[in-house]
Amino acid sequence: MWGRLWPFLLSILIATAVPGPSLRRPSRELDATPRMTIPYEELSGTRHFAGQAQNYSTLLLEEASARLLVGARGALFSLSANDIGDGAHKEIHWEASPEMQSKCHQKGKNNQTECFNHVRFLQRLNSTHLYACGTHAFQPLCAAIDAEAFTLPTSFEEGKEKCPYDPARGFTGLIIDGGLYTATRYEFRSIPDIRRSRHPHSLRTEETPMHWLNDAEFVFSVLVRESKASAVGDDDKVYYFFTERATEEGSGSFTQSRSSHRVARVARVCKGDLGGKKILQKKWTSFLKARLICHIPLYETLRGVCSLDAETSSRTHFYAAFTLSTQWKTLEASAICRYDLAEIQAVFAGPYMEYQDGSRRWGRYEGGVPEPRPGSCITDSLRSQGYNSSQDLPSLVLDFVKLHPLMARPVVPTRGRPLLLKRNVRYTHLTGTPVTTPAGPTYDLLFLGTADGWIHKAVVLGSGMHIIEETQVFREPQSVENLVISLMQHSLYVGAPSGVIQLPLSSCSRYRSCYDCILARDPYCGWDPGTHACMAATTIANRSQGSRTALIQDIERGNRGCESSRDTGPPPPLKTRSVLRGDDVLLPCDQPSNLARALWLLNGSMGLSDGQGGYRVGVDGLLVTDAQPEHSGNYGCYAEENGLRTLLASYSLVVRPATPAPAPKAPDTPGAQLAPDVRLLYVLAIAALGGLCLILASSLLYVACLREGRRGRRRKYSLGRASRAGGSAVQLQTVSGQCPGEEDEGDEEEGLGPGGQLSPDHPWGGSPSPTTPTAPTATS
Ligand SMILES: *[C@@H]1O[C@H](CO)[C@@H](O)[C@H](O)[C@H]1NC(C)=O
Ligand SMILES: *[C@@H]1O[C@H](CO)[C@@H](O)[C@H](O)[C@H]1NC(C)=O
Ligand SMILES: *[C@@H]1O[C@H](CO)[C@@H](O)[C@H](O)[C@H]1NC(C)=O
Ligand SMILES: *[C@@H]1O[C@H](CO)[C@@H](O)[C@H](O)[C@H]1NC(C)=O
Ligand SMILES: *[C@@H]1O[C@H](CO)[C@@H](O)[C@H](O)[C@H]1NC(C)=O
Ligand SMILES: *[C@@H]1O[C@H](CO)[C@@H](O)[C@H](O)[C@H]1NC(C)=O
Repeated sequence: MWGRLWPFLLSILIATAVPGPSLRRPSRELDATPRMTIPYEELSGTRHFAGQAQNYSTLLLEEASARLLVGARGALFSLSANDIGDGAHKEIHWEASPEMQSKCHQKGKNNQTECFNHVRFLQRLNSTHLYACGTHAFQPLCAAIDAEAFTLPTSFEEGKEKCPYDPARGFTGLIIDGGLYTATRYEFRSIPDIRRSRHPHSLRTEETPMHWLNDAEFVFSVLVRESKASAVGDDDKVYYFFTERATEEGSGSFTQSRSSHRVARVARVCKGDLGGKKILQKKWTSFLKARLICHIPLYETLRGVCSLDAETSSRTHFYAAFTLSTQWKTLEASAICRYDLAEIQAVFAGPYMEYQDGSRRWGRYEGGVPEPRPGSCITDSLRSQGYNSSQDLPSLVLDFVKLHPLMARPVVPTRGRPLLLKRNVRYTHLTGTPVTTPAGPTYDLLFLGTADGWIHKAVVLGSGMHIIEETQVFREPQSVENLVISLMQHSLYVGAPSGVIQLPLSSCSRYRSCYDCILARDPYCGWDPGTHACMAATTIANRSQGSRTALIQDIERGNRGCESSRDTGPPPPLKTRSVLRGDDVLLPCDQPSNLARALWLLNGSMGLSDGQGGYRVGVDGLLVTDAQPEHSGNYGCYAEENGLRTLLASYSLVVRPATPAPAPKAPDTPGAQLAPDVRLLYVLAIAALGGLCLILASSLLYVACLREGRRGRRRKYSLGRASRAGGSAVQLQTVSGQCPGEEDEGDEEEGLGPGGQLSPDHPWGGSPSPTTPTAPTATS
């Protein structure tokens, strides 16, 4: 164990030397439990599409025509965005020929996965055509497709400089003003590259004397319209997010480092870049990159990035999902960080790094910086100095650009720390949208896809993230490959190996009471006292001013506003249970919210604690063991969440004195007349039968557990720690139905969990904190 730990303790020491935010953050307080769990069987309002193809990884939403275009393995689909499952889709079959496939197989590629035409690129080219590229059995091809007719053209374009060969290779691409901006490792050169093609000035990244990119695995790119409303006549810029080998860490040669440490990066180029005239000819003259820090050294593998407000650069920000660095391959944990464009811009305007030949390592460049500033776009002030384009830039500047692609300062997340550190989850993709609430404030709503086919819907609050719900969208565990939001359809589209799923962005009617509606903290939902219903806030917003202000929402705290409302929902019916003295009785009570704590009251006042007076309090109800007449009374099961208490179930329990057992009329029973040894035989036979039943029952339970575990069972969370923090003696445990060897999330011990799962409380994860972000406050 310690032998395995040392490298990581060492890497912390190295990491602390890197300028950056404080690493000493408690991680447990940044974990969040999804409030609701919606397993596949309980999905509602979803639509599904799957053709004959597999790997529905490329999605393109066209809001204007209400079409969702899908690139899959061997096919393209045009679905109606309103209902992707309406059966009225168009399909293009586009597979590599059998000859191509066998040639691919002969080259040593896998004919089960790689030797197909995986569509990796699908974008709008112009008003009439789409542009698509596929790996085409390791011979990439591209095609301009008539969007209306939706058929393949008769001629194709060479794809090797636009599309990766390997379907699993990181890739990102955009079409901007007709030019293709793609970034990946193009197999024929095996060096990663950011390129522009189908453009009068084709450009790529530099490789001599140093590589600007090292084994880069691209995740995301976006155009930010920084020219819009720019006072200085700035250019639009394309930002790239990727993970690459860190050459600057440790000593290493100029172009090649022995370091295998991979770090996250953000890079950018100017849209108006035309390359240099003599130096950096047909290369970017504006390329700059910087390290992207979230929670180092643990979380450095970038999985997904999304941009919000990219149209208005003053508000543009990004969310990124990280998983553990590659040495932690077997552990599952994810981090989410937010970055402001302004911070990235500041880093690109700051000091550069330089490879210092003397010490043979990278360090901060302290010398003079030539003018115009290397890596900047052509602005009005440069134009006034006669620099009309990048081709007019002086050699001194271009020589500097060649050798200084990396900035000295890393990009740190907003507030200097992650928004979420989630154990036991591997996020694979994310997307988000700002939601303006009727009262005015805007909240970012994120949708996070996991490696096992779940979607987490979360709202970003100042302090962190609140996960509104987790939804299992695929029966068979599979990796969420793509997520797209349609505001017009109020839908989320999920692309995955087996098909595409369409989900509503919100289902407010799920919340039945005012309390339930505000506890959810969904910025799309608010309680309307007029109709006594939890409503989509967007429909309310179209109404008169009067009813807008009446809508009850409390996204910030999630517990205020319902005090004067009598909309607590219909009280649960009183159920009567009558049992015999000495019996065990379970009073079921299901807590719909994973953040709620069960509270049981007897006769309206006495709080019952687990393990005392014959009571067992569990997530599925109250178990009364060995019932006695004094157990009789009225039992109320409450959910305590965020300082609010709601009645979920009430029972009237009557314990009857045990009537004398049906008289053991000794003389009449034949057993009594049997010889003692025969009676012993009976007892033995009954014992053997009982034992057999026990074995059968437990193996059945085991099989059931195995199956449930595989199928993404309904996840139950225990708030053991939270209740401890709240000072209450109520301890949640499952009293029945707990599968052997299963651990409740919150009860996990420190360090590495039983399944090799990482608990953020281990020595390098920060100091432990017993509170969960939404620990219920004291209830009076
Ligand atoms: C892949 O190649 C193997 C061996 O050459 C062959 O047996 C198999 O049928 C091929 N599979 C496909 C799907 O072409
Ligand atoms: C769009 O691009 C395609 C392919 O390059 C071309 O054939 C078509 O004429 C273009 N359409 C318009 C309206 O420019
Ligand atoms: C830049 O453009 C201006 C006006 O179009 C022109 O007068 C000037 O000669 C150009 N400068 C260079 C270096 O090309
Ligand atoms: C395609 O889907 C299969 C499962 O159907 C999966 O195993 C494979 O990894 C996927 N390939 C890519 C490139 O996503
Ligand atoms: C609400 O207003 C928006 C634009 O303000 C409109 O697009 C939408 O259709 C309206 N929704 C309803 C339900 O009227
Ligand atoms: C609760 O009330 C019932 C009758 O309503 C009574 O018989 C019982 O003793 C009470 N239990 C306690 C613990 O007060």
